[in-house]
Amino acid sequence: MIIDTHAHYDDKAFEEDRKQILDSIVCGGVGRIVNIGSSLEACKRTIQLMEKYDFVYGALGIHPTDSGELTECDIEWIKTQCTLEKCVAVGEIGLDYYWDEPDREIQKKWFVRQLELAKEVKLPVVIHSRDAAQDTVDIMKAEHAQDIGGVVHCYSYSRELAKAFLDMGFYFGIGGVVTFNNGRKLKEVVEYLPLDRIVLETDSPYLAPVPFRGKRNDSRKLTHVIDQIAEIKCITIEEVTEITTQNAHKLYPKLK
Ligand code: NI
Repeated sequence: MIIDTHAHYDDKAFEEDRKQILDSIVCGGVGRIVNIGSSLEACKRTIQLMEKYDFVYGALGIHPTDSGELTECDIEWIKTQCTLEKCVAVGEIGLDYYWDEPDREIQKKWFVRQLELAKEVKLPVVIHSRDAAQDTVDIMKAEHAQDIGGVVHCYSYSRELAKAFLDMGFYFGIGGVVTFNNGRKLKEVVEYLPLDRIVLETDSPYLAPVPFRGKRNDSRKLTHVIDQIAEIKCITIEEVTEITTQNAHKLYPKLK
């Protein structure tokens, strides 16, 4: 069974055929999907998907680019929802300096607050970090992220930096980028990472693997990511599937 540890099936890209796609995914060997919240609205839609589909679980949190209007009341609401049986993590949270808005100080403030939230509800975190490597590591260290645990989603930094996240016990979400012709840096990271720290993710509808690059992504396309990891690690696709599934359960203990 394949587990997609990071997807956004609430996205409007699936408006027309969400049910068809989700039904076909579960028939195609993908047994569990974790839908990831990114805004308050996306968190609400994630909860609806968790309620509607047995195999859909959820992570609830606010993405850095959506943190501009966030309030403490919103955090309290998320905190309540985190007790739902199928809410497996807080996320996605982090820093994104690719965009100028919201201000970096605001992003940092809510990143720290949501790491605290994860401690309060005793759930792992899903980290989004783009062009903000040093601040991400500094904040995670200061907040003792090693006691929280979680995954760095769509890992995009160097092999050297991977060590800092490995040392904090984090998993690495590997998706379509590993199949890209210009994905050499990530291929090196995957070569370096211990197998017991890799989990599969699509980030659907984004980042479809080759040969679907640029098209809408969905969890069935994870087989292309698995093929690539098997090639890099010189193991079979069955081994990649089995190990990443075990890892996903360790990453998200509430996942059944
Ligand atoms: Ni995402």
